[in-house]
Amino acid sequence: MQNAIDLAIKGKYTTSPNPNVGCIIVEGNKILSKSYHCKSGKDHAEVIALKNLKKKVNKKMVMYINLEPCCHTGKTGPCTKTIIDSGIKNIEIAMLDPNPVVKGKGVKELRKNGINVSIGLCKNEAIKINEDFITRHKKNRPYIVLKQAISTDFRITNPKSKWISSNLSREDSHFHRAESCAILIGSNTVRKDDPKLNVRLSKEKLLVSGSIRQPVKVILDSRLTLNINRYKVFGGKTKKIIFNSVKTKSDHKRNIDYIKVKKEKIGLDLNLIMKILANEYEIKRLLVEPGKELFSNFLSKEIFDEIIYYKSPVFVGNSGLHNMNTEKSYLKNRFLILDSVKILSNDVKIRYKLKE
Ligand SMILES: NC(=O)c1ccc[n+]([C@@H]2O[C@H](COP(=O)([O-])OP(=O)(O)OC[C@H]3O[C@@H](n4cnc5c(N)ncnc54)[C@H](OP(=O)(O)O)[C@@H]3O)[C@@H](O)[C@H]2O)c1
Repeated sequence: MQNAIDLAIKGKYTTSPNPNVGCIIVEGNKILSKSYHCKSGKDHAEVIALKNLKKKVNKKMVMYINLEPCCHTGKTGPCTKTIIDSGIKNIEIAMLDPNPVVKGKGVKELRKNGINVSIGLCKNEAIKINEDFITRHKKNRPYIVLKQAISTDFRITNPKSKWISSNLSREDSHFHRAESCAILIGSNTVRKDDPKLNVRLSKEKLLVSGSIRQPVKVILDSRLTLNINRYKVFGGKTKKIIFNSVKTKSDHKRNIDYIKVKKEKIGLDLNLIMKILANEYEIKRLLVEPGKELFSNFLSKEIFDEIIYYKSPVFVGNSGLHNMNTEKSYLKNRFLILDSVKILSNDVKIRYKLKE
């Protein structure tokens, strides 16, 4: 199963909104066929593995898949039908599909057709590689990662330098952009930094064939005060979504969707925005690159799953903006757990997960 999981991970920059799925077909100790799902609309892992199988199916063969096979027709046909028709009689599945359209029904269908199905092998590892897909289906919102580059004294701006973190940290952060379906920022960051908000890594670095998927750009601009002709984020062909409290409209020429949402005491309704991103745009993983205000608001509302800090050894002092509103206290009933620490030249990347 670990083999199937390792294969599934290969699709992480391209599969969205679909889950990461890998599959191997084994006879005895020999792997006869292996595959992974690489793009929505293309064949699912199980179907490719069966197509690639050079030997006639026999009763000793076992198929290992990290996620329950689908039993509905989406952009492709149901995998359960292909599996049943193939004659495979033994299947190991790491976990059920959290998508209510499939959950348990795929397994039921396979068993009904005389296939031995076992569930749960390497379940925790399988959950880890699809935490975004699971979050979208279970919580009706994307998996949310808050990412900031900070100085030793927790400043996110430095009047003396454009960047807080090192080249290596910034390159690393582009891998997070690449695996995200969308990147979200607040209006002040557009005004101050004028970011492009795209992925600037080569296909070779990402190990992908075909074109690199550019994440949807999401901007929170309550009063629509940003001039779309002026800032880089509004240029190019990539889909842009501007959440605001003024209008809902589509600008097809610029590929911008304006979506009106309710304003709250502080900013736009983040819960509603997350719901819209998950349901209407199928965003399973969202990277937020927040300034002080936006970061504080995500913390207050406790709608996030991870915090990633790129911490540089620089001291900025009071001339820099603090990364959050320190007058408030956050996470009164919840806490962060350290997920990983990585050294990137002179910086440290610290990854925290919000404990359920
Ligand atoms: N080092 C880093 O990693 C990093 C990352 C990002 C930004 N920055 C820096 O942070 C600075 C900007 O930070 P900032 O605190 O001034 O602004 P910000 O967090 O970038 O944006 C805040 C603005 O977003 C809009 N907004 C709409 N809905 C919101 C909501 N629900 N919650 C919070 N904001 C909402 C509001 O403006 P409207 O009323 O116009 O809607 C609000 O004033 C920039 O100088 C930038 O360089 C640093």
